Amino acid sequence: MRTITLINGDGIGPEITEAVVKIIDASGLKIDWDLQTAGALVAESEGSPLPPRVIDSVKKNGVALKAPVTTPIGKGFRSVNVQLRKALDLYANLRPCKNLPNIKTRYDGVNVVIVRENTEDLYAGIERQVDENTAESIKVITREASERIAKFAFDYALKNNRKEVCVVTKANIMKLSDGLFLDSYRNVAKAYPQIKQREILVDNLCMQMVQNPSQFDVLVLPNLYGDIVSDLCAGLIGGLGVAQGANIGENCAVFEPVHGSAPDIAGKNQANPTALILSAIEMLRYIKQDAYADKIENALFNTLAKGVLTKDLGGNASTIDYTDAIISYL
Ligand code: NAI
Repeated sequence: MRTITLINGDGIGPEITEAVVKIIDASGLKIDWDLQTAGALVAESEGSPLPPRVIDSVKKNGVALKAPVTTPIGKGFRSVNVQLRKALDLYANLRPCKNLPNIKTRYDGVNVVIVRENTEDLYAGIERQVDENTAESIKVITREASERIAKFAFDYALKNNRKEVCVVTKANIMKLSDGLFLDSYRNVAKAYPQIKQREILVDNLCMQMVQNPSQFDVLVLPNLYGDIVSDLCAGLIGGLGVAQGANIGENCAVFEPVHGSAPDIAGKNQANPTALILSAIEMLRYIKQDAYADKIENALFNTLAKGVLTKDLGGNASTIDYTDAIISYL
């Protein structure tokens, strides 16, 4: 039996985690969940919101399913998510965005995968106050990280029968930093003649994305553009309740929804578990349990197609009703 780290988070985290564990169990796949708590309560009792036991567990098991964890704003501890990504060198942020049955959006045919570089760019956090009226932030791009993410995007495309990998930059203006990202992509692309290549500037991408999103397949972007464009794409497919994600490194991977801990609806049996379910489906594919991934995906799509929707999507199903409906289609 495969052991997987389960970080159940806080806010709506425990409710949606329980839903996903129930669904996977009902699918017939046996998983030994290694439950690891993290967040504010853990910080009080163990002195850190992300104690070493959590990182050790993910390192040992190689895979984690993670629900959102609250980050205090403006004070308190650093984001558990950022710490986890750093500690495990989870360099690729993967966000597949695809239309789902019965979820009304502006566009049909959206099926784009965002591959975002997760370790550098303006996120390196190198900033300085030059004087009272001037601040600087340094954008760091290295060939090593850029080639690594481009290779990840092309390998993902190959493995998932994708046709094109499009690189997104602003290399006309940031000729050195984005220029290096683009050059790294071009170097890596030479080894993948079977995948179509495309280059686009990020401003043009945003315009095209809201005019005709179905033209895009796999996108590879530096950290900041990736952050912004992936939220834009989440909006195209129905918003936070359905936006899945994963952070993947050389030796381990953490699968988690894009949304946060939604304290406004925590404990009310209202949370939509779809984003965590989709993240778990991607996780099952990662551990080569494709048959179970397909089975759960079909049950989820059938549930949506029958109009069973949670409140955020205009329906009236509770978290538990929705979970039970999915289980009934397994
Ligand atoms: P949020 O994503 O938690 O909530 C934004 C809005 O979307 C709220 O109205 C919420 O009710 C709704 N929403 C989010 N997920 C939903 C779901 N599954 N079903 C139904 N409605 C849902 O963003 P917010 O309020 O900015 O952040 C709350 C906390 O979460 C903060 O402490 C933040 O730092 C943390 N956070 C954690 C993340 C993680 O652990 N990966 C990611 C993003 C935020």
